[in-house]
Amino acid sequence: MVTMRNFVTIFFVVFAIYCAIDPFNHSSISKFPNFETHYIDMPPLSSLPKERDHENLLQNSEIKFVNEVQGPESVAFDPQGRGPYTGVADGRVIFWDGTRWNDFAYTSNNRSELCDTKPSLLDYLKNEHICGRPLGLRFHKKTGELYIADAYFGIMKVGPEGGLATSVTNEADGVPLRFTNDLDVDEEGNVYFTDSSTVFQRRNFMQLIVSGEDTGRVLKYNPETKETTTLVRNLQFPNGLSLGKDESFFIFCEGTIGRLRKYWLKGEKAGTSEVVALLHGFPDNIRTNKDGDFWVAIHCHRNIFTHEMAHHTSIRKFFLKLPITVKFQYLLQVGGWPHAVAVKYSEDGKVLKVLEDKQGKVVKAVSEIEEKDGKLWMGSVLMSFIAVYDLA
Ligand SMILES: *[C@@H]1O[C@H](CO)[C@@H](O)[C@H](O)[C@H]1NC(C)=O
Ligand SMILES: *[C@@H]1O[C@H](CO)[C@@H](O)[C@H](O)[C@H]1NC(C)=O
Repeated sequence: MVTMRNFVTIFFVVFAIYCAIDPFNHSSISKFPNFETHYIDMPPLSSLPKERDHENLLQNSEIKFVNEVQGPESVAFDPQGRGPYTGVADGRVIFWDGTRWNDFAYTSNNRSELCDTKPSLLDYLKNEHICGRPLGLRFHKKTGELYIADAYFGIMKVGPEGGLATSVTNEADGVPLRFTNDLDVDEEGNVYFTDSSTVFQRRNFMQLIVSGEDTGRVLKYNPETKETTTLVRNLQFPNGLSLGKDESFFIFCEGTIGRLRKYWLKGEKAGTSEVVALLHGFPDNIRTNKDGDFWVAIHCHRNIFTHEMAHHTSIRKFFLKLPITVKFQYLLQVGGWPHAVAVKYSEDGKVLKVLEDKQGKVVKAVSEIEEKDGKLWMGSVLMSFIAVYDLA
């Protein structure tokens, strides 16, 4: 007689053989024959910040521009305070003039019908390398130029009148930028930015997350010498980056491990970096507010599943061999449930405020938090709207 237990065992053995053979060649790592998983030094769950938002305050956010913006990652206002400007899934940067959305800029000179509106946000991934994918956006306060971290084309910029952006840099030390992610520009026009991986592009973000590989870099572009230099290397998915108010340092996040690091630009410690905080979960962009505090967008709160996966390299590899869609893998990775968190940190890494939506009811996920006039403007690659939270 087949007991339940035998049945489960047989099922798993057959399933494991099936995954190993991959008869239909549709596992999401078949394109990467040398795919390797690396150890992730994930800190224990007990060491995560104790500060929590038990009232789910993020759920009080106002939802704006429903279905008018697809996957708005970064949200920026120009030096005159106009906007927001945001980069969307089809590769455009669009601009809200107070009445309607207008096309502002684009990063690809080869746009075609391939870049047209798609039914679901994940459908855009396939053509991103052709259409471009603007992630981090920043205005240079003096010149009014918009700097764009395009995931595929590197650092680009466009004048205040918009149009086709031009390349600022797309390589460093002879290695092309492969997944440019977030940036900041100082007064002199130096650009500090992250390249999340030199192996995987954004359209293979699932492989990047699961592999735990450490080819990510933090870089600097110097407009005088026109050189791009590496400031920090061997990082696991570096993501958000933001300069301190006095520009003597910047803060960036290490996505895979989920922590904040401070890199000193001036003073005794210049050229060195240190970990200043552990994060509640998987981070995205960082933005400095007028007081010099840092808003860190946490895509999704950490859970037991992601935690266990971090410590078991072979299970992670097996996971990517499962014949399931990226959407489903993503859902499993976030523990089956969206859970956005917005955290405000002091420049020393002290938690100042936490806002959550534990059920992902209103704000499913968050990629960036831009504070302006007492309000938080929140974009996300997974949302078709912008959420606005009133701090008052
Ligand atoms: C599986 O797919 C990859 C590309 O996705 C291809 O290079 C490889 O030859 C395929 N293998 C088989 C056995 O069909
Ligand atoms: C331009 O886009 C087409 C698809 O529309 C693609 O086949 C071609 O490779 C692209 N050219 C360049 C230079 O990227």
